[in-house]
Amino acid sequence: MHYAQITGWGKCVPPAVLSNADLATFMETSDEWISSRTGIKERRICHVNFSDMAIVAAQHALAAADLDASEIDLILLGSLTMDSLCPNTASIVQNAIGATNAASIDINSACTGFLYGVHIGSSLIQTGAHRKILVIGGEFISHYMNWARRDVAVLFGDACGAVVLEASEEKLGLIASRIGCEMDTTSAIQITNLGSAYSRLTEDFLYPDWNFEGQEVFKRAIKAMAFACEDVLRQEGISIEDVNIMVPHQANQRILDALAKRIGMPRDKIMVNVHKYGNTSAGTIPVALAEALEEKRIKPGDYVLMATFGAGLTWGAGLVKWGERVTPLRVSDADLPPCNQTGLEILAPHIARYKAKAATE
Ligand code: ACO
Repeated sequence: MHYAQITGWGKCVPPAVLSNADLATFMETSDEWISSRTGIKERRICHVNFSDMAIVAAQHALAAADLDASEIDLILLGSLTMDSLCPNTASIVQNAIGATNAASIDINSACTGFLYGVHIGSSLIQTGAHRKILVIGGEFISHYMNWARRDVAVLFGDACGAVVLEASEEKLGLIASRIGCEMDTTSAIQITNLGSAYSRLTEDFLYPDWNFEGQEVFKRAIKAMAFACEDVLRQEGISIEDVNIMVPHQANQRILDALAKRIGMPRDKIMVNVHKYGNTSAGTIPVALAEALEEKRIKPGDYVLMATFGAGLTWGAGLVKWGERVTPLRVSDADLPPCNQTGLEILAPHIARYKAKAATE
């Protein structure tokens, strides 16, 4: 059996910043409320398409692995904020990077999209069906947001990350994983007014809104991630003390603190960047992984524990055994086109649209 070593990694974080103070200019909120409830100080707002972020992240990951895009035989893209319903966004990325020999699949499991992708990709490499897979995770959630909803809008941001998985004879990469879904909570996080279920509602169709039961998600997320983490450690026969670093989904600092306490993981072993980017859904783990490597927090041979949850409620954990190499083989200069707007300026038409709608209700 082959294993699926992670040989490349990359991220794309759009340049425009939206701070907590910016949010307080158009909704009843404050830096104090957002920081104390979530740990988030600012987030990024994308000025181009979601696929543009995915393409940049993919190019960095390919360079880090020193692969040509034509060597990739499968692209798995985790996101819920695709460029369009058709064609799938993975194929748009495939065309842009020139992955001439790949098949392309989008995965929508919300925030768990990246870990689900690594789980699927690693399994396909283990069967021998594929040898070199690009797994991308990211979100362009700012343009699916109801900017009149302070309980949801302050939590999210835009970003994307990617990894390359390559077949390896050594026991490296995702060596244990557990994914699942609590099917009785489909409406705890739900984007409404988009999709075929809503197309008959002429008034609200195309005004995305959210059902969001924050406290229910909070409780369920901790329980499910703790269960999944304990399961992957048990599969591998190691204890939490053997884990060198945890790279979890970044939804909320308080969720990370509660999870750490429950599974006995010291806080200084957890990679955290939620204060800079907020919850970028499927983008959080690959972006945090790329930053952990940039910051030299991952060492050769480390056990890296990932845990995540998202709408569905989908959940999962993965235990990665890192290889010898913790630096990129090559560095790409791929970047987004320049942005001459602030986060607030990019969002202004969306905010105005929701304000106008609220005024008629
Ligand atoms: N600013 C100021 N006040 C606010 C804000 C805001 N942005 N949002 C809500 N409030 C108010 C509420 O109206 C409420 O006021 P009230 O008591 O007068 O009614 C009060 O603050 C408390 O609200 P709660 O919802 O009880 O606040 P809580 O402490 O539970 O924190 C939070 C809310 C941060 C959403 C928390 O429940 C949470 O993080 N849940 C997890 C959600 C999550 O991370 N989801 C990610 C998955 S998303 C995906 O998969 C796509």
